Amino acid sequence: MKKVTIVLSFAALFIAACSGGSTNSNSTETPTTLDATTPDATAEIEVPADINELLSKNTCLTCHNANEKVVGPAYVEVAKRNYTPEQIVELIYKPKPSNWPDYQTPMIGLPNVPKEEALKIANWIVSLK
Ligand code: HEC
Repeated sequence: MKKVTIVLSFAALFIAACSGGSTNSNSTETPTTLDATTPDATAEIEVPADINELLSKNTCLTCHNANEKVVGPAYVEVAKRNYTPEQIVELIYKPKPSNWPDYQTPMIGLPNVPKEEALKIANWIVSLK
């Protein structure tokens, strides 16, 4: 009879131990660290081939990139100024460095860019907004 009691109390202990503490410790794991190379929300602009040719031929690419500041402002930044294509053509022929006070080297006027090409480039810049 004594033996039975011992067995029973062990059983009781066992049940208590199992049902009591179901501590689920894995549910609150810290998220993995953010990937530093994740690109930001602004997608890179791809320059169409014909425009790229004009930019290259007229030396614009020496100082400009569509997405990044080089010697001159990124074309996406220029687009934010809300110029008309005609204004941009004018600025290609007669730049106004005072519009971009943060740039040390001013843009040189490029009067030799054919108007038609300048206008194509200008229309493209305006379209980047
Ligand atoms: C020698 C370097 C250089 C070259 C070449 C160059 N740019 Fe620039 N560009 C700049 C700099 C620097 C600025 C900003 C300061 C300024 O306007 O002088 C600028 C500004 C501009 C702006 C903004 C003008 C404004 O006032 O908001 C446009 C548009 C532009 N460039 C287009 C062009 C195009 C198109 C070409 C090629 C036909 C070209 N640039 C060639 C350096 C250059």
